[in-house]
Amino acid sequence: MSTPNNTQIIEEKRKQMLEQMQKLRARMDKVRHKIAVISGKGGVGKSTITANLAVAFAIHGHANHVGILDADIHGPSIPKILGLTGQRLQPGSPGVFPVLGSLGIKVVSMDFMLPDENAPIIWRGPLKMTAIRQFLSDIMWGELDILLIDLPPGTGDEPLSVAQLLPEMDGVIIVTIPSEISQVVVKKAVTFARRLRMPIVGVVENMSGFVCPNCGVKVDIFQSGGGKRIAEESDIYFLGSIPIDQKISKASDKGVPFIVEHADSPASKAFLDIVKKVEAFLKEKEHGGSAKTEG
Ligand SMILES: Nc1ncnc2c1ncn2[C@@H]1O[C@H](COP(=O)(O)OP(=O)(O)O)[C@@H](O)[C@H]1O
Ligand SMILES: [Mg+2]
Repeated sequence: MSTPNNTQIIEEKRKQMLEQMQKLRARMDKVRHKIAVISGKGGVGKSTITANLAVAFAIHGHANHVGILDADIHGPSIPKILGLTGQRLQPGSPGVFPVLGSLGIKVVSMDFMLPDENAPIIWRGPLKMTAIRQFLSDIMWGELDILLIDLPPGTGDEPLSVAQLLPEMDGVIIVTIPSEISQVVVKKAVTFARRLRMPIVGVVENMSGFVCPNCGVKVDIFQSGGGKRIAEESDIYFLGSIPIDQKISKASDKGVPFIVEHADSPASKAFLDIVKKVEAFLKEKEHGGSAKTEG
């Protein structure tokens, strides 16, 4: 048999890529809504918010029909927050099964493919794009009402890949904390989303004030209210604020979904409230209403 020449190899690769994109389209057609969670800065609570919103959606009538794509390739943290560390993606015949969390939440993360949780991932841009493409095309997501996509901070390869692979994205949720510096980075996230033509669902202000568990006094550690102000300035929806609550980080460390354990806390109510607003946004969009976000 003769060895294939360069043109044949390139042609073969192109065919494979086309087939994969067709597979991706077929799988993603069964996912009714896609929303990515972004921020300009790390450590503001994107992953915490993605995970808890997924749980809130599941509780709010979408059990077994919620998925999370952890697209933070270098620093996957969704499995830890949902208590799924150590699980593995299981190969099936027409694809790979996602890992099932509580309330039937389907989770896919790089963490499910690493030899151990401390293994660093050093991947260049094109490989990250390939990984995300495969997560979307080769995973048997099934019929989903919503797929939430947790992204690393900033405007790097992952958000770009997601925007390119899912042009039908319903929108992005921008997470901020209420300090001045983070307002600057939120503006960058807004500009980025608009440049990529991704609608903006709205802004969530996380770590917005702290209620002392002993005396009940609310302290604005990072001066709450910045998220609302920036939303107004940028003409986008304000989805709500989530207070600092020690129980959120404790629950994440334990891998127990916070809003299940502490359903009555102000933060849990805030999550459910945000879900209602996101649902209203999706409904309006489905019925042809123009999102307030195109700039
Ligand atoms: N509202 C909150 N109250 C208390 N701790 C929080 C809150 N939001 C996030 N955290 C904690 O802050 C840290 C960073 O959150 P994470 O979701 O990983 O941020 P990001 O994904 O933006 O990097 C985590 O330890 C998390 O438990
Ligand atoms: Mg994160």
